[in-house]
Amino acid sequence: MTNRIDTLIAQIEAFRPATGSEIEEFRIRILGRNGELNALMEEFRTVAPELKRELGQKLNALKTKATETINNLKATVSAALSQDVGQDDLTRPGTADEPGSRHPISLTRNLILDIFARLGYTVAEGPEIEDDRRVFSALNFPPEHPARDMQDTFFIRRNPDVLLRTHTSSIQVRTMESSGPPIRVVCPGRVFRNEAISYRAHCIFHQIEGLYVDENVSFADLKQSILYFARECFGPQTRIRLRPSYFPFTEPSAEVDVSCNLCAGKGCNVCKGTGWLEIMGCGMVDPNVLENCNIDSKRYSGFAFGMGVERIAMLRYGVRDLRLYFENDIRFLKQFATVI
Ligand code: PHE
Repeated sequence: MTNRIDTLIAQIEAFRPATGSEIEEFRIRILGRNGELNALMEEFRTVAPELKRELGQKLNALKTKATETINNLKATVSAALSQDVGQDDLTRPGTADEPGSRHPISLTRNLILDIFARLGYTVAEGPEIEDDRRVFSALNFPPEHPARDMQDTFFIRRNPDVLLRTHTSSIQVRTMESSGPPIRVVCPGRVFRNEAISYRAHCIFHQIEGLYVDENVSFADLKQSILYFARECFGPQTRIRLRPSYFPFTEPSAEVDVSCNLCAGKGCNVCKGTGWLEIMGCGMVDPNVLENCNIDSKRYSGFAFGMGVERIAMLRYGVRDLRLYFENDIRFLKQFATVI
């Protein structure tokens, strides 16, 4: 009996079928109801008890081997068959290539950078993991300023000097440190804040900040640059208004509103009836910041501004929920496929 089992195993190993029906015949011969395996099982009942253990194991091994080999061979043959059909059947409908599209955040980012490129701004980038100096202290944040609070910032536990940047103003510090005036840069990038996620806030978002430092830069230059940007971005009828505000790194500081592009200033639910939409913060660079970055504040002055890319994209595309930008839902992203 042992010999017969071994012969069968050898046959299974040597089996090289050319067609699916050969496999099927082979299966019936070995595993079929009247096949070799069942015959051996029948015989097994009559074997002497002391041989049962060893023979039983051999029989099991034979069964597993036969089943696995036959299944594998079948799978290979049917895969080869379906490939053949694919190549030969020229009447089958083709599979469409779904072209990808740019993410609305990238579209908006590129649009903003393009507008500022026309005003002579170059793009500067920097690391997302920063030190306290570049994010806060060089920007004139007093040590006890609430923006440094653990509530707002993701710190690294082992080293409080290392943090995820909360704004891309850190790139402006880097630019001032590495090259003197005249400076005209826009700084796009991802920023991080310890915020609860909702339809209007996220712990990750994107900013574009700008910095202009030269001799005789005035608040009028700032206003005119922002007016140009607003009209390029939201249409030629757009008006802007500046409201006094506070940032540690600018003095004076302002919040910029644009006239609502949906209701043309009449008041709707997007602008909450006011006719105005807030789009960015800005101001004249505080002389302390220039000095912290080795720029002579008696000779040079500058302005800075910063905006959230998600916010601008929401206003341009009428998206009401910020979370949609991060969920990668193809039904949402597809809608931007035709937007240039
Ligand atoms: N850094 C500010 C923020 O993240 C934006 C800003 C930039 C304001 C430059 C004024 C000047 O909110």
